[in-house]
Amino acid sequence: MWLITFLSLLALTSGARILGLVPTPSYSHQTALWPIWKKLASRGHKVTLITANPINDPKLSNLTEINIRETYKIWTPMYKNMKALHDPFKINDVILPTLLAVSEYIFDNEEVKALTRNDTTFDIVIVETMFPEMLIFGEIFKCPTVCLSSMGGAIRVHESIGNSVHPVVYPELMLPYYKDLTFKERITSVLYYLAYKFRFEPQSLNVKNNALKKYFGENAPSITQLLDKVSMTFLDVHPALDGARPIGPNTVNFGGMVHIRDPQPLPKDLKEFLDASKEGVVYFSLGSNVKSANLKQEEFEAIIQALSDLPYKVLWKYESDDIPNKPKNVKFVKWTPQQDVLRHPNIRAFVTQAGLQSLEEAIYFHVPIVMLPFCADQEQNAKKAELRKIGKTIYPMKDGITKDALKNSIKDVIEDPSYRKNIKSLAEIMLDEPMSGVDKVIWWTEYVIRHKGARHFRNHILDIPLYQYFMLDILAFSISVLTILLVLVWITYRMIRNRVSAIVSARIKEE
Ligand SMILES: *[C@@H]1O[C@H](CO)[C@@H](O)[C@H](O)[C@H]1NC(C)=O
Ligand SMILES: *[C@@H]1O[C@H](CO)[C@@H](O)[C@H](O)[C@H]1NC(C)=O
Repeated sequence: MWLITFLSLLALTSGARILGLVPTPSYSHQTALWPIWKKLASRGHKVTLITANPINDPKLSNLTEINIRETYKIWTPMYKNMKALHDPFKINDVILPTLLAVSEYIFDNEEVKALTRNDTTFDIVIVETMFPEMLIFGEIFKCPTVCLSSMGGAIRVHESIGNSVHPVVYPELMLPYYKDLTFKERITSVLYYLAYKFRFEPQSLNVKNNALKKYFGENAPSITQLLDKVSMTFLDVHPALDGARPIGPNTVNFGGMVHIRDPQPLPKDLKEFLDASKEGVVYFSLGSNVKSANLKQEEFEAIIQALSDLPYKVLWKYESDDIPNKPKNVKFVKWTPQQDVLRHPNIRAFVTQAGLQSLEEAIYFHVPIVMLPFCADQEQNAKKAELRKIGKTIYPMKDGITKDALKNSIKDVIEDPSYRKNIKSLAEIMLDEPMSGVDKVIWWTEYVIRHKGARHFRNHILDIPLYQYFMLDILAFSISVLTILLVLVWITYRMIRNRVSAIVSARIKEE
């Protein structure tokens, strides 16, 4: 009997209609999730994906992509303001208007509007966590919703699904520390939490609620109402790197190098360069958002001097043509197939901005790292990696980049074998899982489709008022009882004392 039930449940989930919304116009946010859409489509689901980087693979006949690549024009200028992106107390001012503009672009998009006008239906809507306003499509298509992120969860992401948040134990992603906080860091983290709860979050909810009203009418549900209905949240983190924290059954950590793909042959000139460099190669790339060309002139010169002093070759992903005094041992390229480069046996170290996907690639290919974190979650990622002793960090926004610091860090991580040993064992731990990260996401997505939501996983912490959560009523009650008891004891004591002294003084008079 159970077999029939089970099989009919399975039948229900083949050929489901899935709507995915991954608006963030950032290459790493997009490609990190590609394997998930590919696998869902190849399992026979009809997937419609709204994305800034379409996969464009004609073989994926069950995947329809709505291209919102234009949103890069909204997003990229933000990186000119690196100072604000580096400051957790200022980042909201830069990122909120950008997020809103991207959302409005999507709500205005004709292909997206056509989806809602046609009698298209969906069985599940999957939304990137940074854009909770997109959960409105769950209302439109009257189906369960799931949140998905290519990184960890911000305060709201955890709180909205019932996971405990604590500013000292689990400092927010954007803060540049992670464990063993100093007193000053603990104060900053608590202040940040308060600023988040009383300023950033209300600001963001207000702006996004207004957008929902503008596009979907005065009666549109609020973000808070939409978040309340989310069935599950999938986060691209692995506790062995990200650290352990309490999560409920409605949160799935699927991290573990989901985006690592099969090897592809290197372009000819890169292959020749890497093959020929028997002394070893340092690969230098600051990722897709931080452009090497944004470096200050003196930092650029310090880097050039440090690299030209190394007894290794260097492959530098650099986006500009005019490079003065190119050192002999450095090869500049505008773009690299990063995973295939890191896979090459002659790569000895990776200088990276410490974006999560780059870190995972370094770990997967056992390449020790030197981190130059610039903004957003990069400094905290660097702290986590340092704690695992898989690399060294230089903080360009705080200390700048000097020749000696960079040269010595690169030499250290290459010459001290413990870095490669640690990164190898971290990779082994992160990959030793009952199923791959992609399979976890697929399994839980189909689970939510089968059961038409996952309300049964809802943590009732979400329904408890704050005064009950902090036990304020119990505390008040206990203090009252204690006070009454103390007063009673005091009154009794006074009464006995008066009585005794009355008797004593009567005795004295008698005598
Ligand atoms: C597309 O989905 C159908 C079932 O809906 C399946 O039979 C087919 O193999 C899928 N095509 C691809 C290319 O994955
Ligand atoms: C919506 O319907 C129109 C007209 O029937 C069609 O051309 C279009 O492809 C449909 N769009 C979607 C996303 O299904």
